[in-house]
Parts: sequence; structure tokens; C-alpha cells
Amino acid sequence: MAATTTIPARPLLAAVLAALLLSAASAADSKNNPADQLVALINSNRTASKASTLDDNQGLGCIALQYIKAYEGQCNQVGESKKPPETSFAETFAPNCGVQAATLTKITGRLLACQSNYATPDQAFNFLVNDAKSIQVLHSKNHTEVGAAVSGTSGGGPYFWCVLFSSGKPTTSFKVDGGVPKSVRPGCFSGNNDDCMGANAAVSIGAGCSSVVFIVFIYSNVLFGK
Ligand SMILES: *[C@@H]1O[C@H](CO)[C@@H](O)[C@H](O)[C@H]1NC(C)=O
Ligand SMILES: *[C@@H]1O[C@H](CO)[C@@H](O)[C@H](O)[C@H]1NC(C)=O
Repeated sequence: MAATTTIPARPLLAAVLAALLLSAASAADSKNNPADQLVALINSNRTASKASTLDDNQGLGCIALQYIKAYEGQCNQVGESKKPPETSFAETFAPNCGVQAATLTKITGRLLACQSNYATPDQAFNFLVNDAKSIQVLHSKNHTEVGAAVSGTSGGGPYFWCVLFSSGKPTTSFKVDGGVPKSVRPGCFSGNNDDCMGANAAVSIGAGCSSVVFIVFIYSNVLFGK
């Protein structure tokens, strides 16, 4: 826990982020994974509002990444009417992750956003949770667990962020065959204690991060499920 995270391009930001996240990340979380960092931000915001801390479920995190992949990089498809069908969970997402279909559990909320440039987890939090409806999803007492994912598209933008919430029992829901989700790179997901930053992660983290990029949001579509 005492180790310090450093990202060569942004050491100061990384240090601030690491300090923030060290207090909130659970044991299964990596400090070098933007999806885990987003979960830490979600949990710290929930606890500040007297809502429970959510368990970071790796099977659900992997499914969140599959959910992103269902959009095939098409940012303009992100919207209420363009959700992947519910049947995708059992037919595609679970098998792709090695999640046992019998352990799939009710999704109690979802946050999805897409934009052309890569964002840091705290920026992603801000555009995922940006109105009364999304705050209600964030703070819902129906959730017991969460899974988050981020992925670029073909080595670049657009970048999708997805958070899925569930009311399942963390130890028995979204169970992964052999305890380790199948490799589903590119992209990063939460809960799997996986370092997912840098060249190997294929989300091009750092490459597009400059202060100019941060303010040039071409588009940002957000979807809120039930
Ligand atoms: C939690 O997130 C919401 C939405 O971004 C924000 O308005 C609120 O200030 C945050 N609460 C804390 C304690 O950071
Ligand atoms: C919690 O679940 C109940 C029952 O399914 C539902 O009516 C309610 O809208 C949910 N609350 C939130 C904040 O999603």
C-alpha cells in the first residue's frame, strides 16, 4: 500500500490521484487501472453521501467492457434507445468473459459515456455523473456491487466509459470460471487487480493527455439505464 504510482508524463496529477485513491481502493484494485480508479471515485462519492461502499466485482467489470464493445466504437449509438439487448448478457458478454451464466444478476443501474478524447478517471466521473438522474443512479441504495470499464477503439478514440451496478451478492454473482476473467484487451476493467496503464493497455493513456485535449470535447453522450 505504501508504493507510489508514477506516470512519467503527469507525475503531479498521478501523485494527487494516487493519494486520493489509496484511501478508497479495495484490496482487489490496482492503482494503475483507470477503471479501478473510477470505482474508487464512485465509492468515495457514495460514502460522502452516506450510501454504502460497493464491492468491485471483476466479472461485472469484464461485462462492462463487453458492453462497451457492443457499440463497436460508434459513439453516436450511445443513447437510451440503442442499448445492447438484455439477451446479450447471457449470450455474448458472459461467455466472452468466462462468467458463469447462472450467476448473472440483476443490473440495477448503468452509466455510459463516450467521447473522442481520452479522459482521466476524475474527468470521466464528472461527465458520467452530471445531472440529477445520474446522481440518483450513483447514490442508489439498490446497488451492492459495481463493475467499470474503459476502452478506446482500434488503438485510439472514441473512448467509452461504462459503469454497471448490480444488486447481486458479491461472492456469488458474476462468478468467473477459474477465478480469472478471460483476457479481453483492448480496454481496462475493474476488480481484477490488473495493471492496465501504458502501452499494453491499448487505451493510449497518456498519449492524448494534454491540457488542450481536456477542453476539446467534440461530443459526449450519456446513457442512464434503470
Ligand atoms: C459527488 O458527485 C456529485 C456529482 O458529480 C457532486 O455534485 C458531489 O459534489 C460529489 N460529492 C462529493 C462529496 O464529492
Ligand atoms: C430501486 O429499486 C426499486 C425496485 O426495483 C425501484 O422502484 C427504484 O426506482 C430503484 N431506485 C433507484 C434509485 O434506482
